[in-house]
Amino acid sequence: MQSDTKTSNLLKTHSLCRYYNRGPQQVRAVDEVSLSVKRGEFLGIVGASGSGKSTLLSLLAGLDTPTSGQIEIENTKLSTFNRRELAAYRARRIGMVFQSFNLIYHYSALKNVEMALYFNSTPGRERQEKAVEILGNLGLGDRLSHRPADLSGGEQQRVAIARALVKSPEILFADEPTGNLDYENSQLIANLLSDLNKQGLTIIMATHDLDFANRCCHRIISMHYGKIIDNIGSSSSKREKP
Ligand SMILES: Nc1ncnc2c1ncn2[C@@H]1O[C@H](COP(=O)(O)OP(=O)(O)OP(=O)(O)O)[C@@H](O)[C@H]1O
Ligand SMILES: [Mg+2]
Repeated sequence: MQSDTKTSNLLKTHSLCRYYNRGPQQVRAVDEVSLSVKRGEFLGIVGASGSGKSTLLSLLAGLDTPTSGQIEIENTKLSTFNRRELAAYRARRIGMVFQSFNLIYHYSALKNVEMALYFNSTPGRERQEKAVEILGNLGLGDRLSHRPADLSGGEQQRVAIARALVKSPEILFADEPTGNLDYENSQLIANLLSDLNKQGLTIIMATHDLDFANRCCHRIISMHYGKIIDNIGSSSSKREKP
């Protein structure tokens, strides 16, 4: 990869807002957020519960529409994408680990992961091979046929991570990826995400776990009532910036 490409902005937001109106009450979930993320960066988003982290990730992933403001991906406004382009963005370029997993409850772990490849036209046999491999890497090789209800919370979280990673996305949005994991599994995810980031994956991660963020992220921002209040900058982990 050329260095100018590597240091260029991949994602940018301009005065991004997402407001919810509930009768007389207005919730400013994301409020005038202007942010740039470079290709190859590992950005952490921290902040109290309700500060807008998940809402911001959903907007960046093209899963929600802003009330106002813009999101640019490589200098193209997301708002100019037609339905097909937006679907392609979601299916091919991004991976999303949802805070609440969003697994399909009547599908097995294997099929939940395979499904992510269905939408980017990967041939059937390859879909299964890739899904088996990544589930194995996440320690779920003996849980392939389990449905979400027959998995622990941490196992479901790892299936959700496998589903986001199996399609080799360009950007990973991870919403509390270790929220349900014990120390050992959270280490496994930290190492996995750090390795993928070193190979070029851009990661934007919301977390309550500042230790975890410090271990993995190049830069950490803090949200408060929908606004970025602090750009904590390079973490103390001495990781190389992109
Ligand atoms: N559909 C909705 N309608 C109204 N308000 C909403 C809606 N979705 C989220 N909110 C509000 O927006 C704010 C931000 O929510 P969000 O889920 O982004 O917070 P968060 O930082 O991810 O919190 P947590 O750390 O608990 O996951 C919260 O106050 C929440 O109550
Ligand atoms: Mg959240």
